[in-house]
Amino acid sequence: MIHHEKVLLNREFTFTQHDFNLLRELVNHHTGIHLSEHKQEMLYSRLARRLRALNLNSFSSYYQVLLENDGEELVNFINAVTTNLTAFFREAHHFEVLGKIILPELLERKQEQQRLRIWSAGCASGEEAYSIAMVVKEVVPSYWDVKILASDLDSAVLEKARLGIYEGDRLEGISPERLHRWVKRGIGGQAGKAHISKELQEIISFRQLNLIHAWPMRGTFDLIFCRNVVIYFDKNTQSILFERFADILEPEGYLFIGHSENLFQLTERFHLLQQTVYVKA
Ligand SMILES: C[S@@+](CC[C@H](N)C(=O)[O-])C[C@H]1O[C@@H](n2cnc3c(N)ncnc32)[C@H](O)[C@@H]1O
Repeated sequence: MIHHEKVLLNREFTFTQHDFNLLRELVNHHTGIHLSEHKQEMLYSRLARRLRALNLNSFSSYYQVLLENDGEELVNFINAVTTNLTAFFREAHHFEVLGKIILPELLERKQEQQRLRIWSAGCASGEEAYSIAMVVKEVVPSYWDVKILASDLDSAVLEKARLGIYEGDRLEGISPERLHRWVKRGIGGQAGKAHISKELQEIISFRQLNLIHAWPMRGTFDLIFCRNVVIYFDKNTQSILFERFADILEPEGYLFIGHSENLFQLTERFHLLQQTVYVKA
């Protein structure tokens, strides 16, 4: 305990248990993200940057700003508390099953409509959506009507996703053939950067969307990727979200979730196709 208090005193700003509780409640209210007790240090370091930026000297005054300034700071607050870790072809087996089993099955099943709708829900900086788009473009005939909605709550990462420009060292997961076909290397001032091809960008719409609020979409989806997003939510929020995914999926539509997530005791509306890939029952 004594040691704990020392750590608190050594911090640039005082951060009490009460501050932590108020702020994590606010995080939960706005994002659905549940911060457990051991996330104190993480929340401190992410928000200390905001206190400095706003020239504030305490977390309680920061909390007041969040309550009072009409949502202006709320955007920065939300952007600071989300975890946006992602990569091209992350969990590579999903893209194998997509290209080899699921898209061929949908090509048969949807041959009359020739239309596919895909949602990357919690797309972070866009790598997931671009990876899906590469596989789709390789497998689905170009005359099919295919659209990918890629959404996230964090406006800063969405900006990056829309741009489609990445540092060269972010491209590791992309095979040499795909790099050659879908990625242009920058030259001159853009050396070291990689641009995603326009052809992929054209089929993706990046939109800000809070998964725990109402969704503006009218139509249904054939595929939903929601990977490494619900891991931050409590079980009840997860369960509601999976039910809503089932509602907005086509019959026998597919849901992809992250490697450490599962639907056990959360919904009965899907059956498992293979590791973390589900089909709407
Ligand atoms: C760890 S990233 C996962 C990115 C990608 N799906 C992947 O697996 O590589 C989680 C993303 O979920 C987003 N997120 C968190 N809460 C959200 C919410 N309530 N609504 C929409 N997106 C949310 C975060 O902003 C973050 O970009």
